[in-house]
Amino acid sequence: AQSQIGLIGLGTMGGMLALNIAEKGFDISVFNRTTSVTKSFHENAGELASKITPCENLEDLVASIAKPRAIILMVPAGDPVDQQIAALRAHLDADDLIIDAGNANFHDTERRAEEAAKAGPRFLGIGVSGGEEGARHGPAIMGGGEQQDWDRVAPILNAIAAKFDGTPCAGFMGKGGSGHFVKAVHNGIEYADMQMIAETYGVMRDGMGLNSQACGDIFAKWDEGALKSYLIEISGKVARATDPESGEPMLDIILDRAGQKGTGRWTVIEAQHLAAPVPVIEAAVMARNLSSRLDARKQGEDMFGAAPEALPEGALSAEDLENALIAGKILCYAQGFELLRSANAPFDWDLPLPDIALVWRDGCIIRSAMLDDMASALSESPDRNLMYAPYFADLLKAHHGALRKVVSIAAAHGLAVPALSMALSYFDTMRTARGTANMIQGQRDFFGAHGFERTDREGTDFHGPWAM
Ligand code: 6PG
Repeated sequence: AQSQIGLIGLGTMGGMLALNIAEKGFDISVFNRTTSVTKSFHENAGELASKITPCENLEDLVASIAKPRAIILMVPAGDPVDQQIAALRAHLDADDLIIDAGNANFHDTERRAEEAAKAGPRFLGIGVSGGEEGARHGPAIMGGGEQQDWDRVAPILNAIAAKFDGTPCAGFMGKGGSGHFVKAVHNGIEYADMQMIAETYGVMRDGMGLNSQACGDIFAKWDEGALKSYLIEISGKVARATDPESGEPMLDIILDRAGQKGTGRWTVIEAQHLAAPVPVIEAAVMARNLSSRLDARKQGEDMFGAAPEALPEGALSAEDLENALIAGKILCYAQGFELLRSANAPFDWDLPLPDIALVWRDGCIIRSAMLDDMASALSESPDRNLMYAPYFADLLKAHHGALRKVVSIAAAHGLAVPALSMALSYFDTMRTARGTANMIQGQRDFFGAHGFERTDREGTDFHGPWAM
């Protein structure tokens, strides 16, 4: 019998996804550029091997899949995807479907969707989140393209996706690159969540003098409350782990230089294009960039001295940090969802914000208890900033004080908390009816006669009495 689907690219993620598909009962053909990889993948597939057809070239792959064919690409984002599509095109029919499941830049997906509409074969871009474990046992899936193409492969995608209370964490986001856009915003939020957690760790380590084990115990405790989430859970595990080689806490051995493949940066760049404020995500990307400047930071410490850091006994409690993180997290997600909303008009999308929150409840890296409440708040009122939804407004009212306390005490002792600081600035700005942009407008009019609006009269082109 022919396979129901094909997959190209048996790297870690591709291999795991193929096993997941086979395990859910679908026959799948697989191909990797290096034939030995395909062979050993099949040999190591155990009882799933009978569901998997290993192919040595594209002809065999295509011939082994039932028509109309669907083929998942799991190759590195960028040029390799275009090259693979070009190579496949010669073998496929116009109604065959290529599904890019990598971390594509959504602009590339938009372009590929346009090219597919003109020259075929058909094209879907799906964002897949959850790392290795998710790909193997249930990722979150964000699809973009034509609805009919999504519907065609939805039975497979729903089957392999994570389930939240039985509901698959997979959803159709809209046309073109919308699925990959939603995945990028997911990653931006992922960066911000991780950064804010790292900042609370920094306050505990450098301010409160706690060792890694103690920090890990605190994260584990937070994982039982409002912050319950995958990222808090693994932060606890990371902090509690011991390096088998040195016997030291693992965290103390890991160099403080963070890598990145670029998705967080794409999110921030796009947010700037859309004039969508995502300061917490921006701070997180900035912090990763600064983290890589090890020598410069060393030079700075030598020149200016290390920050005083140590906090007076009792200045901050673990509960203050927990509450600050709750407030920071709400503000960060509020920004992320506002970014999603602001993409609708320019890209002619209608991103289903409540569904996005539903899809993110499980399988993906940012999965958390709070996302279920976010889904409810967004279903109630999809056009409202999350921070104004009663449930989250109450949490913010209860905890913005803790956020302020943590940020101000950290600042007073030289502990850098850029993402938490940005969350607080966003909060303060968003509750200030009369801000300070009147000064900006005055300055603009002074040096460039750009004109301003007045508070006491209608009209847009007033000028000040600046003597030149
Ligand atoms: C996911 C993750 C994943 C991402 C890695 C690495 O949702 O499963 O977002 O797609 O690529 O976590 O990302 P960075 O290298 O940029 O940290």
